[in-house]
Amino acid sequence: MMMRNPSEKYRPFPQVNLNGRRWPTRTIERAPIWMSTDLRDGNQALIDPMNIEAKLEFFEMLVRVGFKEIEVGFPSASQTDFDFVRKLIVENRIPADVTIEVLVQSRRELIERTFEAVEGAPRVIVHLYNAIAPSFRKIVFAQSKEETKALAVEGTRIIKECAAARPNTHWIYQYSPETFSMTELSFSREVCDAVAQMWRPTPDHKMIVNLPATVEAAMPNVFADQVEWMDRNMSYRDSIVLSVHPHNDRGTAVAAAELAILAGADRVEGCLFGNGERTGNVDLVTLAMNLYTQGIDPGLDFSDIDGVRRVVERCNQIPVHPRHPYAGDLVFTAFSGSHQDAIRKGLAQREADTVWDVPYLPIDPADLGRSYDAVIRVNSQSGKGGATFLLERGLGFTPPRRVQIEFSHAVQKVADASGAEVSGEAICALFKREYFDAQGPASRADVSTLHFEGRHVNLPVSTVADEAHAQAVAAVVASVAGVVIEVASFETTATAKGETAVFVGCRIGEQAMRFGVAVHANAAHAVADAIVSAVNRVRWAGRKEVESEAVAA
Ligand code: KIV
Ligand code: ZN
Repeated sequence: MMMRNPSEKYRPFPQVNLNGRRWPTRTIERAPIWMSTDLRDGNQALIDPMNIEAKLEFFEMLVRVGFKEIEVGFPSASQTDFDFVRKLIVENRIPADVTIEVLVQSRRELIERTFEAVEGAPRVIVHLYNAIAPSFRKIVFAQSKEETKALAVEGTRIIKECAAARPNTHWIYQYSPETFSMTELSFSREVCDAVAQMWRPTPDHKMIVNLPATVEAAMPNVFADQVEWMDRNMSYRDSIVLSVHPHNDRGTAVAAAELAILAGADRVEGCLFGNGERTGNVDLVTLAMNLYTQGIDPGLDFSDIDGVRRVVERCNQIPVHPRHPYAGDLVFTAFSGSHQDAIRKGLAQREADTVWDVPYLPIDPADLGRSYDAVIRVNSQSGKGGATFLLERGLGFTPPRRVQIEFSHAVQKVADASGAEVSGEAICALFKREYFDAQGPASRADVSTLHFEGRHVNLPVSTVADEAHAQAVAAVVASVAGVVIEVASFETTATAKGETAVFVGCRIGEQAMRFGVAVHANAAHAVADAIVSAVNRVRWAGRKEVESEAVAA
């Protein structure tokens, strides 16, 4: 049971004492350096870690997407990772512009094993970490601050020695003060400064200082303050690539990473779709696409997001959530009527090569390789806009507004009855049944179809599109005997295939107006069919009313 007063159990995370913070007034102007840790941090969090084949498939996909830094494993901790790294190197599978990264703890035998794994690679980032936060010093390692710092410095010294012995590789050194986000800032700086002092980076040969929110413990603004504080106070800053490594325990890793970039981070480590320990590492897809929608080239290519997603799902054996930003199955789909209406209008009015401005769609699905097919889906929550969009796509024409309204009642009935989605095909089939089948005598088994015998016609010739149509209407209506048909509305449009679609609204006597619709390559034929459709629908509706009155009586 939850405690009645959480303040008895939890303490608010302390604010950072930072005067004149700069990050709130900045904007992001370029993409950070990306580092994918899918094959290391992400892999360590999987129920079934990847085998070598899966790692290779994932690695090759990361390269295609455009990652230039990829943490490929923890070779001193896993034989699979060791063998995978060897395979990449021996089989020459690392492109010249890609640098692999390997993680290691501060112990000589582990560092030596790591150097064995990466032997022969042209460029390598060796990544050392040790936990430095108070709870780790006290609870996990029973170490003093001095011992904690000494461990980091000693690891750095050994790595420097191993690197110097292998001059054929371009070595880049990365240090992570693990649990940075929960550590006293002055101590984080003290450790990072001591490590840098041992490595001696230069502006031409920088080292990476990576600040992990190993467990996300505070609001993103607090993390941004911590990063800005380090940015301002660390020594060797011009010789350091400042990196961040957010996790998502509070669900705000993306925001934390974005504010951290404002605060001075040059580089971001994370995983695709937010895989990683517990709630995951920061999601690099969302981060990259967030930049893209602000007009900034992320330098990562997600134009085949479904292809990327398939590889990730296969290798991680974890599905991507249907609501995942940018990549989920449902994220470009509107079911609600008002949303559909706005999207339909936005897409219809959109001019090619102009700034994207479609209501409810923050990004053009086509930029992620998605079609517009799923943009609008119809269920009982939908309105006429949704059905119309699907009709436009399926039948190649846009019915006039009043036909849309009339047809939406038929769709609503089907959606309410099934309680489920009504597919685009089903909507087109329903439209054909409602309007096209009503054109001929066989249209409704229970309806005596119109025989054209009438004479008394009230035809608003002014609404008839052209002379040919007027003649067709007159010819059809003139052949109807004993029925007074009022053609109350008449519209035509060209279909995508170049045929004529005709929409005719007819009244007979006191009965409510009904629309008839027909499509034909011959316009006159279409007019005739549409009138038959309308008249049959009026009479059929009249019958239904009489039948229901009889039942009620
Ligand atoms: O989350 C973390 O602190 C890590 C480090 C090894 C960088 O994954
Ligand atoms: Zn991590």
